Amino acid sequence: MTLSGKTALVTGGNRGIGLAAVKALAEAGATVHFTARSAANIAAAQRELGDMIAIGHHANMTDRDAMTTVLDHGFDILVNNAGVIGPIGRMLDISPEDWGANIETNLIAAFHATQTAMRHMVAKGGGTIVNLSSGAAHRPMEGWSAYCCGKAGLAMLTRAIHEEYAPQGIRVFGFAPGVVDTDMQGSIRASGLNPVSKIPRENLAPAEEPAKAIAWLCTAAADALAGQEVDVRNPDLRRSVGLRALE
Ligand SMILES: NC(=O)c1ccc[n+]([C@@H]2O[C@H](COP(=O)([O-])OP(=O)(O)OC[C@H]3O[C@@H](n4cnc5c(N)ncnc54)[C@H](OP(=O)(O)O)[C@@H]3O)[C@@H](O)[C@H]2O)c1
Repeated sequence: MTLSGKTALVTGGNRGIGLAAVKALAEAGATVHFTARSAANIAAAQRELGDMIAIGHHANMTDRDAMTTVLDHGFDILVNNAGVIGPIGRMLDISPEDWGANIETNLIAAFHATQTAMRHMVAKGGGTIVNLSSGAAHRPMEGWSAYCCGKAGLAMLTRAIHEEYAPQGIRVFGFAPGVVDTDMQGSIRASGLNPVSKIPRENLAPAEEPAKAIAWLCTAAADALAGQEVDVRNPDLRRSVGLRALE
């Protein structure tokens, strides 16, 4: 139980990679909290968790007051998982409002959550932040301009935090989870835009794989990778985490 005695918060922990990360962190011994956008989503996640204990908080990522209330519990680990893919569409087919809403969730809300969490972490002498990144942070994908810009900004935020706060014990990682079988990939397939939408569902990875890697990043075993963007498809990382080798 490598994370025994640690407390963790996973944003958007009610489904997909977030819910799998809640499970993986709890299995590693952490006391896990998660946020969801409704009481019904918390209840659905609790049903999925069964006997596993995790504490759900009703908070939209973009609601700063609600997020501050949750984060003021003072966590050792923050997993910035909540994210949205849309608007999916080429530049002239999307609205500025939808584009801005993506950046508000994927980047600005993650900044706010991280800043609030870090005040407690720095006071305690350290903590771990895992920012869910993407290959889209590093290369443009047709129809995903907002998502690519938000994730690129988040990747730079990871580096900026490392630059400023590594000496104060803040371990921060950007983590690309691969192409994972979640509702987000369902929306991508439905769009038919860009090569990711053409990947057959059976070729997608189960959410348990990136979740296990997220829990591993929260342990001292990952110290040497702090400040970096790490990708679950990296063979060395997979060996360290204990994931199956990819063909
Ligand atoms: N799946 C992939 O292949 C893939 C690849 C690269 C990166 N990622 C990243 O991994 C993370 C998780 O993705 P996923 O595939 O698990 O996505 P998902 O199945 O669509 O789940 C997204 C989660 O984020 C929550 N969320 C979205 N906006 C929120 C907000 N404003 N406040 C609070 N919660 C919010 C959702 O809550 P609701 O249930 O209320 O909607 C849901 O719990 C995302 O950051 C995504 O960009 C995923």
